Amino acid sequence: MVRAGTSFGKAGQDHAPVDILEKTSDTLRYMAEAGCTGFDCSEKTIGIVNNLDRNLSSAVDDLKELRNLIGDCQRCKLCKERTNIVFGTGDPDAKLVFVGEGPGHDEDQKGEPFVGKAGQLLTKIIEAMNLTRERVYICNIIKCRPPGNRNPAPDEIKACFPFLERQLDAIRPDFICALGTFAAQTLLDSDEPISKMRGRLYDYRGMKVMPTYHPAYLLRNPEKKRDVWEDMKKLISLMNT
Ligand code: URA
Repeated sequence: MVRAGTSFGKAGQDHAPVDILEKTSDTLRYMAEAGCTGFDCSEKTIGIVNNLDRNLSSAVDDLKELRNLIGDCQRCKLCKERTNIVFGTGDPDAKLVFVGEGPGHDEDQKGEPFVGKAGQLLTKIIEAMNLTRERVYICNIIKCRPPGNRNPAPDEIKACFPFLERQLDAIRPDFICALGTFAAQTLLDSDEPISKMRGRLYDYRGMKVMPTYHPAYLLRNPEKKRDVWEDMKKLISLMNT
């Protein structure tokens, strides 16, 4: 399903022409899928147009509802040492969602994903794709920081994963980029190493998943940046077809 863009028809917002064209084309495709066959003034067409904003806001509402449901989560032991729950950030109507592993120290402090060193590298990757953090959505497999940045434990992933599932259901992106072993293996229920999975396209409940190396791994192994760039180029070209 193609959803209409987030801000089509809203006045007072400053968009680059390419953004406006992209959102207009999304909206037209969305209208066609909703049954609009032309530009007439029939009640059906007017109904579709009038409902656009309602449909647009549903991903936002679903995410807000989900955040409320998580509340001051005590569902696993990570609640004891966390400072903030790191829910996710970006465009609720994004076509591309990046899923990482879990918050580190900086994210825990700020309550926002990927804001530390690895996050700065992720931001550069996103910008090299000609996108911005605001146009994609960024979240993690688990929403609370494991103490000392240890790997998430299976019971922690099990407690948190239903929230990621609902988050992805609310956004329904066309593509998910799974960052690193935990994201790829958890989303795809696989135990294949990330080195085998990266650069290939998988299905997660109708959404296409491209696993690649985690930015923190790239900080330790800069020679792998080339592989990630190859994966991202593939992703860009798939997104543009
Ligand atoms: N690493 C992750 O996997 N997620 C973050 O939010 C930050 C670092």
